[in-house]
Amino acid sequence: MVDMDKIVSLSKRRGFIFQSSEIYGGLGSAWDYGPLGVELKNNVKRLWWRDNVHLRDDMVGLDAAITMHPKVWEASGHLASFSDPFTGCAECGRHYREDHLWSAITESKWFTSLHAAVANAQDLAKDLRKWVQKDGGKLARNLKLVKDTDNTLAAAHGFYPDLVNNVKQESVHLDSRKLLRLITGNVSGRACPNCGSAQLSDPRPASLMLETSLGPVQETAIKIYLRPETAQGIFVNFDNVLQASRKKLPFGIAQIGKAFRNEITPGNFTFRTREFEQMEIEFFCLPGTDEEWHRKWIDERFQWYQRYGIRRENIRQRKHEPDELAHYAKGCVDIEYLFPMGWSELEGIANRTDYDLKQHSQFSGKALEYFDEETKQKIVPYVIEPSAGADRSTLAFLVDAYHEEEVRGEKRVVLKLHPELAPIKIAVLPLLKKNDQIVETAKKLTADLRKRWYAVYDDTASIGRLYRRQDEVGTPFCVTVDVQTVGDEKAPADDKVTIRDRDTMEQVRVSLSALESTMQKLMDGKWAEVAQDHGIWQG
Ligand code: GAP
Repeated sequence: MVDMDKIVSLSKRRGFIFQSSEIYGGLGSAWDYGPLGVELKNNVKRLWWRDNVHLRDDMVGLDAAITMHPKVWEASGHLASFSDPFTGCAECGRHYREDHLWSAITESKWFTSLHAAVANAQDLAKDLRKWVQKDGGKLARNLKLVKDTDNTLAAAHGFYPDLVNNVKQESVHLDSRKLLRLITGNVSGRACPNCGSAQLSDPRPASLMLETSLGPVQETAIKIYLRPETAQGIFVNFDNVLQASRKKLPFGIAQIGKAFRNEITPGNFTFRTREFEQMEIEFFCLPGTDEEWHRKWIDERFQWYQRYGIRRENIRQRKHEPDELAHYAKGCVDIEYLFPMGWSELEGIANRTDYDLKQHSQFSGKALEYFDEETKQKIVPYVIEPSAGADRSTLAFLVDAYHEEEVRGEKRVVLKLHPELAPIKIAVLPLLKKNDQIVETAKKLTADLRKRWYAVYDDTASIGRLYRRQDEVGTPFCVTVDVQTVGDEKAPADDKVTIRDRDTMEQVRVSLSALESTMQKLMDGKWAEVAQDHGIWQG
């Protein structure tokens, strides 16, 4: 699995994603999409919309406002219970999500070095003492290893070699907790991932709702919230959409838009941020058919990521345990992706029952119901909610596409993005930028191709460098105009150009008149057919 640092560095270098407000030192956890990033993320959203709205006849779209009546959040239950448990360190002042504390500890520098010291110990007491000296007095003090060093070492020694053997085994998680308890004498096994102090506050809930005020004058302004999910905009518009579209159950409403959460521990690049974009569907169905629709949506969404290139081995489904379920859900399955920091949620598909429509009916006084022609009864539909993150999906596609390869002794970085996702579809490259005819032909070709695909012209380096650059940003096809294309005193023009495939680096030569139709075939994944028609050679 690729290191996240490589993705962050490529993103900045090639204009996918930048740190927000970087010239002012940056704003934590906020990111800006650069020229190629905006193309990639727009492609993710466009494909999601096309596949979930335009290609289905049981779906319609919506674009609701980010700011909503404050009562919405009372009714939805967010004001009362949309929070994460957090804990603070009295020593260094850092805050952590209680449920992420243990993984933060095991990933911390001090803990991994402690773990390594024990795992490699020949003489535990001696090696731990060395570790205490090496990793600094403050951490050792925080871990209570200074005042009590001899006692803790003696206690740890009592468990030796059992402890060492356990740590050496693969069940790192369990043994690491035991290790922490033994070494620090800290019965809870809780310690600050940053400084190692055991002085962590008891977990308390922290609201994730981001507040702002609406109105020009402070005295009369009202407190409102930036929506933490786009879903509620769909629920409160249920009746409007139903009346306007005359849809029959089952049908769904899709929406893409910004959401905001005061996350305690944002991080891992764009994986968890305080401002992000969601792609959500609320699919309304008859009670009793909800389980079947839940399963269908899980399958559909699971396939969707794979359709656009996510490798099967990097994606999985995980059913929520009853104690993990959100307050509104009867069941939920997460689609998880193997991100560089481990398996993490990409999308959640929940069965929200009739909870939201009933809550909004009660709080607003407006009945949110559906008249069932068959039974001649009014019912409150059940809701299946596939809820994806546009930023997280974009990150997953980037990570999955990233490859490093060796080509003729040189390292090649290539983003093997699906052509529909690739920011640039075609790069037109002149073999000689001093040849006016070549340049003119290449520029005209670019302008023609642009009418259908996002194409760029580039003559700022040698052809080899240009290919590598396009590989690195995931451009699936490069078209090269050369001397044979335009002809010279030795030979007449053959009116043909070379098309190079990013992944195989194979090339075909096709006539200008057939370029557009050939390109369409290539975008549809028919390289083999084109290669058979025109013959290939390795570039
Ligand atoms: N309406 C249901 C809902 O919001 P969720 O699991 O909290 O469910 C759905 O969020 C998706 O939104 C997640 O699977 C993830 O892709 C994205 N998401 C949630 N919080 C995020 C954050 N802080 N940063 C980036 N994406 C986030």
